[in-house]
Amino acid sequence: MSRPERHFFVCENVRPEGGKPSCGQRHSGEVLRALSEGLARHREVWDQVAVSSSGCLGPCFDGPTVVVYPEGVWYAPVSAADVDELVREHLVHGRPVERLRYQWPE
Ligand code: FES
Repeated sequence: MSRPERHFFVCENVRPEGGKPSCGQRHSGEVLRALSEGLARHREVWDQVAVSSSGCLGPCFDGPTVVVYPEGVWYAPVSAADVDELVREHLVHGRPVERLRYQWPE
């Protein structure tokens, strides 16, 4: 097993009702599951890519949030319906999906 070249983190933070929004409340678990299933279908990158759950990644009001390292590409909001494209383009071929890229406020 070699060190992954690329790592996808999916925020699964859940905050109490009535508090600041959180990705877990917005079904980020479905995104993580779909991304993990997408990786499972691509054995050729199993030793190059990792998919992990994470706590809060920052843009809570705009999640579900995914960040990919080492390139530092942020995606938000991401739905399970977006994941096939993320898998095909970024996870397998290393090409960021511009339409999903999160724009941090200046
Ligand atoms: S709760 Fe997901 S980015 Fe903060």
